[in-house]
Amino acid sequence: MTKPGETGDLDALARHALRYVKDGQTLGLGTGRAASAFIRALGASGMKVRGVPTSRASADLARSLGIDLVELRDAPRLAADFDGADEVDARLEMIKGLGGALVREKVVAAASRKRIFLVGEEKLVKRLGARGNLPVEVVPFAAVFATREIAALGLKPKLRTGTDGADFVSDNGNLILDCAVREIRHPARLERDLLMIPGVVGTGLFVGLADLVLVAMRDGKIKTLRRKP
Ligand code: A5P
Repeated sequence: MTKPGETGDLDALARHALRYVKDGQTLGLGTGRAASAFIRALGASGMKVRGVPTSRASADLARSLGIDLVELRDAPRLAADFDGADEVDARLEMIKGLGGALVREKVVAAASRKRIFLVGEEKLVKRLGARGNLPVEVVPFAAVFATREIAALGLKPKLRTGTDGADFVSDNGNLILDCAVREIRHPARLERDLLMIPGVVGTGLFVGLADLVLVAMRDGKIKTLRRKP
């Protein structure tokens, strides 16, 4: 059993998520700890599926486990997408992108018939922004300009750097602005305003995308949250 503040058992959660997978399907494979736990469970299950990975890291992991990979252009409609999240509110709106794969993650989620997210209990929030960070991906050319424009919206953007102090570069060759936020009252409006800024490629706001969120509770139970119609 995990202590308060720690993530619940992601491996058990990932095994639980396999009930939403059928042999022969093509699946979106997310990025991060929860998504990696799912990829490992998938690899161990012996099911024959194909995956569209959302990052190089997830591609490498899936490949090492013998999971067949396919490009999104060759499998434009996916049966289901399995990914993690950084914040989930009661309406299943989410913030993602701490791992830096937000743009591909959103494309793959949007291309999937069913979108399933795996999180520890600590990711559940009353209102998005509660954990204080919204990642935004920008083309390098526009980074300074976009920083100014995002700040004008009331956010506090900071260029993400790696442990070596160098700029973090996404798999798309772009930069990430980690934007300090307070509680976000209107996620769809903020998403629209951010996407209006030239040079912004995508944001970590996932509005209207999650169908199902599976939560590893600290007491070891698994909670299933479904989007209300
Ligand atoms: C990757 O870019 C992110 O969107 C991750 O899916 C998100 O940060 C959750 O990651 P963890 O499962 O590692 O917490």
